[in-house]
Amino acid sequence: MYLIIVLCGCLAILTILSFVSKHIALLRSSVLAYGKLDYTADQPLTAMARWIKNITVPKTWFCHFYAVGLMAAIECIIEITLALQWKVFGPVLTVLRLWDTPQGSRHLGLGECLVGLGLMTIHLARRLYESMMIERPSANARMHFSHYLAGMGFYGAMVIGAWLEGAANFGIWQPIKVEPFTLPWTTIPSIGLFIYASYHQHTCHKILASLRTPKTRNAYVIPRGDWFENLVVPHYFADILVYVSLWILYQGRNWTLTFGLVWTIVNLGVTAGETDQWYRKTFGKRYNDAFPRSRSLLLPHIY
Ligand SMILES: NC(=O)c1ccc[n+]([C@@H]2O[C@H](COP(=O)([O-])OP(=O)(O)OC[C@H]3O[C@@H](n4cnc5c(N)ncnc54)[C@H](OP(=O)(O)O)[C@@H]3O)[C@@H](O)[C@H]2O)c1
Repeated sequence: MYLIIVLCGCLAILTILSFVSKHIALLRSSVLAYGKLDYTADQPLTAMARWIKNITVPKTWFCHFYAVGLMAAIECIIEITLALQWKVFGPVLTVLRLWDTPQGSRHLGLGECLVGLGLMTIHLARRLYESMMIERPSANARMHFSHYLAGMGFYGAMVIGAWLEGAANFGIWQPIKVEPFTLPWTTIPSIGLFIYASYHQHTCHKILASLRTPKTRNAYVIPRGDWFENLVVPHYFADILVYVSLWILYQGRNWTLTFGLVWTIVNLGVTAGETDQWYRKTFGKRYNDAFPRSRSLLLPHIY
């Protein structure tokens, strides 16, 4: 129970910080913008804001999120298999066994925990592949160190959150007889949406990568095609749909995943707004004329 509270609490704080950062001048001018958004973001006016703004890492380090998340997911799969098959507990489950309590860790079934962890692992593996093999990042793009820490924490929380609220059913705290597990009816629609969203996120990242030729390595272009015709940041929308598909799988009963979904919507919502401003300032009339006025930022017909 303690770890569930810590993870949900941290995700709630991140969500609030992400939301308010747009309205606090110090945060808006120092940590909010990353990558291309830095070029048109508010400039820091105080020495403190300038100092904070300079604590950055290369944006290519995004791939670390997925690499670390994927390693954590594989470790969890191995530990859960060992626990279910041979009642042997690895380091993560041992920490839970010794320092945490089973309250709040019974309401998710074994089947949905395993499917959820499997989908999360596939998502992380695909994003790692895309960030290392498909995307063509510019050499100059940077992100604030706070984004780096938040990203690491977020993917760690999502990997553990995929099964934590069903962990008592692995026999961690008390021995249990492992029954053949059943899957909820939401499994098929959830996997269907997961595949659909993953396909479109992959397509959108391929479109963005195709805009970069060896000659235009660091340049930005107006992306066209697929969901870019309907949304400013369709790859963010697809990302949200991936978490919605997991939310459907758990029928909204996974608190950690729900807090993660809310953070994703708020965080990507704020960045979507900044990205639209960046396109308008960078490309002006050409951008305004390219798409119908009804085009949404992030969520079709909503935002
Ligand atoms: N779950 C979450 O909370 C969360 C948070 C953040 C991101 N994400 C996911 O991570 C993925 C990457 O996010 P991101 O913020 O890095 O996306 P992004 O800023 O759109 O960048 C994605 C890639 O496309 C390039 N790019 C972007 N716009 C371009 C343009 N107009 N012309 C040419 N190249 C362009 C970028 O180059 P540069 O190297 O120059 O930037 C980068 O290599 C997304 O799919 C997103 O959904 C998830």
